[in-house]
Amino acid sequence: MTAPTPTRDDKFSFGLWTIGYNGTDPFGGPTRKPLDVVHAVEKLAEIGAYGLTFHDDDLFAFGSTDAERQTQIDRLKGALADTGLIVPMATTNLFSPPVFKDGGFTSNDRQVRRYALRKVLRQLDLAAELGAKTFVMWGGREGAEYDSAKDIRAALSRYKEAVDLLGQYVLDKGYDIRFAIEPKPNEPRGDILLPTVGHALAFINELEHPELVGLNPEVGHEQMAGLNFAAGIAQALFHGKLFHIDLNGQRGIKYDQDLVFGHGDLHNAFALVDLLENGGPNGGPAYDGPRHFDYKPSRTEDETGVWDSAKANIRTYLLLKERAAAFRADPEVQEALEAAKVLELSVPTLNEGETVDDLVADRSAWEDFEPESYLGAKGFGFVRLQQLATEHLLGAR
Ligand code: GCO
Ligand code: MN
Ligand code: MN
Repeated sequence: MTAPTPTRDDKFSFGLWTIGYNGTDPFGGPTRKPLDVVHAVEKLAEIGAYGLTFHDDDLFAFGSTDAERQTQIDRLKGALADTGLIVPMATTNLFSPPVFKDGGFTSNDRQVRRYALRKVLRQLDLAAELGAKTFVMWGGREGAEYDSAKDIRAALSRYKEAVDLLGQYVLDKGYDIRFAIEPKPNEPRGDILLPTVGHALAFINELEHPELVGLNPEVGHEQMAGLNFAAGIAQALFHGKLFHIDLNGQRGIKYDQDLVFGHGDLHNAFALVDLLENGGPNGGPAYDGPRHFDYKPSRTEDETGVWDSAKANIRTYLLLKERAAAFRADPEVQEALEAAKVLELSVPTLNEGETVDDLVADRSAWEDFEPESYLGAKGFGFVRLQQLATEHLLGAR
């Protein structure tokens, strides 16, 4: 089966830390040599991506001098100009250097919190300079291992203080940037603050400028918590908060695997792509932002394997998009959706203008309704629908 060739309009982007992952894990050092940013940009352009994203420390090592930092920025800018790639999103590393061992925005150490804010402000300026529209905040070290070690309510107040300050900064500077919080339940901390999409959505409501802040959900992170990713994305869309997305693969409740997109729960990946591409008004896309891959090329792979795995993300996404379109176009699927009353859920429960009194006066809703008649009555046919989805997914229809 062939899949369409990716174009820039598909908006595929990759983190510099993804393709640049050198294989280091808690049990072993690098298995691959460092990847230069210029080479990375050139290769991404070649495989059909439109964007590169990065943490400050991915581009210029932590502790770089101003001159070293500038050299790397200029090299990146040159590569972007040569290839036409863009930087749709940028982010800050508030988790690797030892100073952040208890977090950045929510470290118990106030001096560390002030330093973290300065580091983010600096990266925000660079993000604006490079034209990034989204600034991701993944608080990997914002958390704790021990209940007695962290006052969670105080930590959330400090988190809010940080995000409010950054929001005000963006407004004052007139930057065209929105923030996207990336939830994760654990790893590297035993428990991370804002562990799921739902926690983060509730937190955003407490902010001074909630309109500036949305989500960057990651497939594997929700699945690490045993949650349904496609359903979480649907809720983020419901709240108008899907600002960015991290696509990858995860097999169940375990460490963050960062596999290639689709190499985990393939059914859910199909449902996700169907939602993103066909879940909008009139069956169009429900999301028009970057399709950002946050995966790790396994440490068993060489450099060829890095680019093969990067291409695999894109190819799987496009294949799923094709399969989802075929699923939607299949008359039998349409009929099964109808039979399952999937479309009926979009009809409001009350008639237009109907009041509670009208409902109470409607004998067909209670007095003449026979709930007992549902015993043994016609089923919804959800299993048939899922099998049709499975057959389209397998290319059998
Ligand atoms: C992880 C996270 C990170 C973030 C990145 C950008 O589990 O390591 O997914 O890769 O996405 O820091 O914010
Ligand atoms: Mn991750
Ligand atoms: Mn991520």
